[in-house]
Amino acid sequence: MSKPAAIKKCLFPAAGYGTRFLPTTKSMPKEMLPVVNKPLIQYGVEEAMEAGMDKMAIITGRGKRAIADHFDTNYELEHQISGSGKEKYLTDIRRIIDEAVFSYTRQIEMKGLGHAILTGETLIGDQPFAVVLADDLCYSPAQGVLSQMVELYNKYQCSIVAIEEVPADETHKYGVIVGEEVEPGLIKITDMVEKPAPEDAPSNLAIIGRYILTPDIFDIIRKTPPGRNNEVQITDALLTQAKEGGGVLGYKFKGQRFDCGSVEGFMEANSYYYKNVYEAVE
Ligand code: G1P
Repeated sequence: MSKPAAIKKCLFPAAGYGTRFLPTTKSMPKEMLPVVNKPLIQYGVEEAMEAGMDKMAIITGRGKRAIADHFDTNYELEHQISGSGKEKYLTDIRRIIDEAVFSYTRQIEMKGLGHAILTGETLIGDQPFAVVLADDLCYSPAQGVLSQMVELYNKYQCSIVAIEEVPADETHKYGVIVGEEVEPGLIKITDMVEKPAPEDAPSNLAIIGRYILTPDIFDIIRKTPPGRNNEVQITDALLTQAKEGGGVLGYKFKGQRFDCGSVEGFMEANSYYYKNVYEAVE
C-alpha cells in the first residue's frame, strides 16, 4: 500500500451541556474547565499538534464562545503584559495560535456524537481525520495517544478507536468492542455496542474519546438510525464500517486516561496534574 496522506485535521465535538458540572457550566463551556491552569480543550489541541495536525475543527453550540476566544489573540491582555515577566504564561497558547488554524461550526440540535461528527463534515471534507473528546484527558508523556494512533493509521489505513479495559460494572458508560487481536494491543473489531448493561456487554474493552476516522464514515452516519438514547451513535456507524467498510481497529493505547466528564475523574486529574505534570512558570 502507498503511504497515506498525513492526517492534518482534528475534530472536537464540543456542543454538549456539561450538566454534571452545573452550575459552573451554565454560561461556561465544560471544555474550558481547567486542569490546574489549562482548559481541557487545550490539552486536546496540544495532543493533536504533537501528532502532526494543524487544523482544528470545533463543533460548538450555544454558549460556547469562550472556546473561540481562547484560541484567539486577546489584544488588550497582550498590551497590558507586554514586556513584563507575565508574558511567559502565554507561551504555549501563543504557539498554538501561531501554528494551528481553528474553524468552527455549530451543532444546532443535540442528536448524539454521530450527529456531531457528521456536522463536522463541512470542516473536514474528504480526508481521514482525528476526533478528540476533550473530557477524556490522556496523559502519555513519551508519545501522545493521537500520535500513537496516527502511526497505526499509516500502517493499516482504516478507522481506529482508542480502547481501555474498564470494570465490568462500568460498561454502561461507554461504547464496548470485541474482536480478534491482530498484534499485541490491536484488535480487529467484529462487534461493538453503545453503553451496554454489564450482562449485555461483549467484553470490558471500552472506547475512549480518541478516534481516527476515514471519511466514508460520513455517508455511513447519514444512513445510521438513532440508537441508544434515541441519538445517532458513532459506535453504530463504526460497526457498519467494521462489517461492510474498510474495517475498524481498537487500540489499547499507552498512557493514562482521566474521565474529566465526571466530577470524580476531573478532581483526580487536577490532583495528578498538579503533582506530576504542572510546572509553575516563575
Ligand atoms: C461517547 C461515546 C462512547 C465512548 C465515550 C468515551 O459517550 O458515545 O461510545 O465510549 O464517548 O468517552 P459519552 O461519554 O459522550 O456519553
